[in-house]
Amino acid sequence: MASTFLHLLLCSILLSVFSPSLAQTSFRPKALVLPVSKDAASLQYITHINQRTHLVSIPLTLDLGGQFLWVDCDQGYVSSSYRPVRCGSAQCSLTRSKACGECFSGPVKGCNYSTCVLSPDNTVTGTATSGEVGEDAVSIQSTDGSNPGRVVSVRRLLFTCGSTFLLEGLASRVKGMAGLGRSRVALPSQFSSAFSFNRKFSICLSSSTKSTGVVFFGDGPYVLLPKVDASQSLTYTPLITNPVSTASAYFQGEASVEYFIGVKSIKINGKAVPLNATLLSIDSQGYGGTKISTVHPYTVLETSIYKAVTQAFLKELSTITRVASVSPFGACFSSKDIGSTRVGPAVPPIDLVLQRQSVYWRVFGANSMVQVSDNVLCLGFVDGGVNPRTSIVIGGRQLEDNLLQFDLATSRLGFSSSLLSRQTTCSNFNFTSNA
Ligand SMILES: *[C@@H]1O[C@H](CO)[C@@H](O)[C@H](O)[C@H]1NC(C)=O
Ligand SMILES: *[C@@H]1O[C@H](CO)[C@@H](O)[C@H](O)[C@H]1NC(C)=O
Ligand SMILES: *[C@@H]1O[C@H](CO)[C@@H](O)[C@H](O)[C@H]1NC(C)=O
Repeated sequence: MASTFLHLLLCSILLSVFSPSLAQTSFRPKALVLPVSKDAASLQYITHINQRTHLVSIPLTLDLGGQFLWVDCDQGYVSSSYRPVRCGSAQCSLTRSKACGECFSGPVKGCNYSTCVLSPDNTVTGTATSGEVGEDAVSIQSTDGSNPGRVVSVRRLLFTCGSTFLLEGLASRVKGMAGLGRSRVALPSQFSSAFSFNRKFSICLSSSTKSTGVVFFGDGPYVLLPKVDASQSLTYTPLITNPVSTASAYFQGEASVEYFIGVKSIKINGKAVPLNATLLSIDSQGYGGTKISTVHPYTVLETSIYKAVTQAFLKELSTITRVASVSPFGACFSSKDIGSTRVGPAVPPIDLVLQRQSVYWRVFGANSMVQVSDNVLCLGFVDGGVNPRTSIVIGGRQLEDNLLQFDLATSRLGFSSSLLSRQTTCSNFNFTSNA
C-alpha cells in the first residue's frame, strides 16, 4: 500500500513538471529593462512602471539609493489586485518594518487594520511620512541584453503607499519614486528573487532630455548600438556600508541602503588635490564618505573639498578666460576658449582615486562641465556647505553616459567611465522589441 502511494505521488510530480501549461508560465527572463528619461525642468530621471489590475503606467522618479518603490495611494489608485501586507506576515518581516498600523477612520486604500508600515521618503526634498506596505502586480519587459523581449509579471511586488503631499518637489506628473537601494524590498532584490537571476543591476543615464537611458536588472550583456557590450568594459571597486541610515526617517541601528564607495583622493590633470582625508571616510556617526545619487543633478562637495577642487581646476585652466559665475556653479568659462573632444569639452580630467592609485574613475569634460548658455561652460560641481552628512555626493550629471553596475551579492560597483570614448552613449539601447 505504502509503495503504491509513493509511486502515485511521484507520477503526479512528474506530470506537473512536464505539463505544457507549467512550462509556459515558467519562462525565466535572465534580465529586465526599464527606459529612463531626463526631465528638463527638474533634472530628475524618470522611469515608468506598469502596475495594478488593470495595468497603469506609473511615472516615477528614479532613486538609486531609495529603500523601495513608493507610490501615491491617496489619489487615483484603482486596482483589483492590491493587497495590504499584514503585520507579522513573512512579507512584512522581509521589509524589516518595525511598525504596525491601525487606522483611526476605518480601512481605506493605503490604510487598513494591522498593516505593516514603512516610511516612504521623498529624497529630493528630504521629507518622509508613514505608509502602508502593500503588494500589487507589476509587468516589465525582459531582455536578452540587446532588445526588449517578452513582458513578464511579478504578481505580488511589495511597495509602500505614499501620500499626495509627498510628491511635492518631484517632477510634474510623477506619482512616486522607484527605489533601487541595497534593501531586500528595493526593486533590484525583488526582481532578482522573483526570477532567480543574479543580484546585479545597472544604470546608464542619458545626458539628453530628448533621448532615453536604461536600467538593466540582472547580469549583462548590456548591448548599446553599434553593438558595444558595455558590461565588458568595467572597472571594479568595493561598495561600502554606511552603518547609519541616511534616510529621512529611520530606526536606531539601521544601516544606510545607499551606495557608498571609497574615494581615497582626487586628482586633476594627474595632480593630487590637497584634501582633509578624514572627510573621505565614514565615521561611527555615519558622517563623511562618498555616495552615488540620482536625485542630485550635480556632484555636491563638502565646502573645503569644493574649494580645493575648484582652485586646482582653475589653476590647470589658467589660460582660459574665466567669466562671471552662474548659480549654482562657482567656476565658469568662456566656451569659445575651450576646444572639444570625443569625451566633451577639452578640460583637465578629474580622477576619483579608489582602493589603489591604479584604480580610478576618470571624469572627462562631458561629465565635469555644464553648458549654461551658448557661450558659458561651468564646472558642474556644487558647494554642499560645512559638515554635510556625506562629504561627496556623486550626482546625475557625472553619471550620464557611464554604465554603473551594482553587484549586491559581492558588494561591488563596476564602472565604465565615459562611454563616449567607446563611441556609444546610454541612449543607444535598442528599445525596438523583438518579442
Ligand atoms: C482591508 O483589508 C481587507 C483584508 O485584506 C480587504 O478585504 C479590504 O479590501 C481592505 N480594505 C481596503 C480599503 O483596502
Ligand atoms: C578634517 O575634518 C574633520 C572632520 O570634519 C575635522 O574634525 C578636522 O578638524 C579637519 N582637519 C583639518 C586639518 O582641517
Ligand atoms: C534594433 O532591433 C531591431 C529588432 O531586433 C532590429 O530589427 C533593428 O535592426 C535594430 N536596429 C539597429 C539600428 O540595429
